[in-house]
This record gives sequence, C-alpha cells and structure tokens, in this order.
Amino acid sequence: MTDEERPAVPTDRPAWTRDHAARLRRDETNVTPIIYPPEANLDEDLHVWDTWWLRDRDGSPAEVNGRRVVFALTASSKLLPGKRHDVATIRYFHSADGESWETGGRVFEPEGTLGSRQWAGSALHDDGDVYLYYTAAGLSDEPELTYSQRIALATGGTIDADDGGVSIEGPWDHSVLLEPDGEWYEREAQSRGMTYTFRDPWFFEDPASGETYLLFEANTPVPEGSDACDGDAARQAFNGSVGIAHSPTGDPTEFELRPPLLDAVCVNQELERPHLVVRDGTYYLFVSSHHHTFAPDIEGYDALYGFVADGLRGDYEPLNGHGMILTNPANAPFQAYSWLAYDHGDELLVTSFFNYFDYDRPSMDDVALLPEDEQMRRFGGTLAPTVRVALEGSETRVRGTLGHGHLPLARESLPADPFEGDVGAER
Ligand code: FRU
Repeated sequence: MTDEERPAVPTDRPAWTRDHAARLRRDETNVTPIIYPPEANLDEDLHVWDTWWLRDRDGSPAEVNGRRVVFALTASSKLLPGKRHDVATIRYFHSADGESWETGGRVFEPEGTLGSRQWAGSALHDDGDVYLYYTAAGLSDEPELTYSQRIALATGGTIDADDGGVSIEGPWDHSVLLEPDGEWYEREAQSRGMTYTFRDPWFFEDPASGETYLLFEANTPVPEGSDACDGDAARQAFNGSVGIAHSPTGDPTEFELRPPLLDAVCVNQELERPHLVVRDGTYYLFVSSHHHTFAPDIEGYDALYGFVADGLRGDYEPLNGHGMILTNPANAPFQAYSWLAYDHGDELLVTSFFNYFDYDRPSMDDVALLPEDEQMRRFGGTLAPTVRVALEGSETRVRGTLGHGHLPLARESLPADPFEGDVGAER
C-alpha cells in the first residue's frame, strides 16, 4: 500500500506523545506516601472504588443542607476484589464534616437501570434535582457478561438532607446519551487490542463560555495498515483519547459528540475518568491511567496524569513535561487508583481509592494468581488519603496528605502541611 492509501489518524489534535511519555519517572515531586489501612473502612460490608462527589453546575462540590455527598462504585466485600467490576453498583455516602461518611444506600432500584452493571460517572446537583451520568457496562439481562459501554443518564432523582442524614430518591428515568460513532470514537468492533473504552462521563460547564459539555474516556480508531506509530501494529493498539460532547442548548440531557480533546495514540490505551479544573483561564485536564495500559517500550505507572492548555480546546501539553502528577511508591505500586482532582485555595486536592497495597510485583495481573485470602488481605476497598498537590503553571509537586476520604469544602482551611519537605520519607 502506498503512503497515500494508508488510512490516516488525525495528527492535528493535541497529543500525549511517546517522547513525552519516555520521560516518565518516579521522583520526589510525584511519589505519594505509603498508605496504611484506616481504622475502619468506609463500609465494612462493601468494596468501594471509583468515587465522585455531587457537584454544583460550576463544578464545585455541592453542600446540601450542610452535608456533602459522594457516589461510588461498590460491591459486596465478600467478593474477590477482581470480581467487583462485574457487579458494580452505584451507592451514595454522605457526611456532615467531609471526614466521616455514612452509607446512604443504592442509588437506583435495579428495575430500569441500564447495563448489566454500572461503572463510573458524575453527578450534577441543580436546584434539588440530581442528574446522574454513568457508564452502562454490558446490557441489562445479558446471559453472559459483555464489555459494551454506553454513556447513560438517570434523571428524575431528588435529594433531601436534614440533621438525620441524606436521602436520594427516584423514580429515575434512564436513557442512553452517547455511543461511539466509529469515526472520532472507536466502536467495540474496531478495537484491535485490549477492551475498547467509552465510559466515565464527566459533566463540565466551561466558565469562559457558559457552555455545557460531557468529557469521557474513549479510544481513537486506528485502522489496520495505518501509518500511526511508524506503522508499528503492536503500538497502534494503544489508542486512548479524552472524548467530549457538547450540549448546544445547555440542557444537561442532550449532548452531541465532538472530536476528542486529546489523543494518546501509540502511548496509552486508557485515559480514565477525564476531568477538568480551570484556574484563571488556564485549563487543567486530568486522567488516571495504569502501568499495564502503556504501549510497548514505555515505562508508565498507575498514576494521575495531567495536561494544561489556555482554553477548553487548547493545545494541551503534559504537566511537568511528561504528564505525571502523582503516583504510588515503588514498594506499593498499586496502592491507590482512580484519582479525582479539585481546586482548594491555591492547591489541588486529589481523592482516590485504596487499592492493592503492600504488593511489590511488576504486573497487576499477578494479583489474580495470589491465593484468595491474600487477594482479600491486600485490597483496600475504601477511600484513600486525600493528596495535597502544589500546582503552579505547568509544574506540580506532592505536598502531603489528609485523612482517608477527607473531602474539605473550598471555604474550609486546611492544616499546615504536615509533610512539607518530608514527602519522600516512606518511599
Ligand atoms: C477506573 C475504571 C473506570 C470504570 C471502572 C469500572 O477504575 O476502570 O474507568 O468506570 O473502573 O469498575
């Protein structure tokens, strides 16, 4: 095939390149302290992982009659941790102080919920109404588990809070908002490597324009015979992107696909749970990704990665020159995952869940080979300590941590940084 006949992959979009990723290193600016199990998990009966907070339209964590609310993927804590994705159920938790959390319960009644299980999303609070964006994984009532992914929305929910707690009630109305188009966003049938991704919707209102968007995790189609990655087929299978859809009217229930904000073709397969923080016209785009989803010959980490641009559709450049903001220590490389950042005064706070810890092997796949009681013993299944990050321009530095699952509101002042100058102590 001549060069002209080769199917092209767009090269005019902002990209996370192999050159950027070749510079990824753990160092004293990005390694987080070792996590020890908390005295009590969020809920002893549940494994809890991907978590997101109820947010107001402007993106800040919502407070409903003095209480804040988080949603999380959950499964019975009796299950092997690796099985949890197959039965994920969204539950909510609430707190008066942002430190101790009570379980509210399942958000949806099983009837009418889309997917055979529900994966991560985001939650918008608008005048007492709750819009819950989520990933419908698989199909309802499927005889065998499938990995199809659609972006879904549940509307009709209301939230009520008083001194006794918080209740979120339906009835919910579920609909599919978005499916991949096969041009900008890879469909399942086009996938050439690991499972495709089309998930993790994140509601975002652009402060510059007031326009309404959804960000999501996706893949860019790379047809066979493409010249991407110098024609290297093994690398082409790693084609993550950050997708975006626009609501032309601002209606939070109507979105149209737009081209991706960022591509990671030849670099990484999964740019998970994309979200934005905007500071004075500077846009910070964050994703989580795994060691095992980097393309061949790139040494990456389970880490929070970030990119900076001067507008929503700007020319995103990786923070710190390579993109990594924070990662786990070398002797517990999978101890936390699925990070979400939000602005707090002049620093960034980053939540995540406590994943596999005290576990020093090169591959996450090895976890499944451990005896069952070892898998259980080494899984956190609860919120991790919130990480404090200094962010200036295009550079970041881990400053220290707050408690497990501590989620302060913007007006709350934080203790003087307990780990200042001492972040490397436990590496
Ligand atoms: C990240 C993630 C999400 C997905 C969920 C499924 O931890 O892979 O992208 O929604 O886990 O459990």
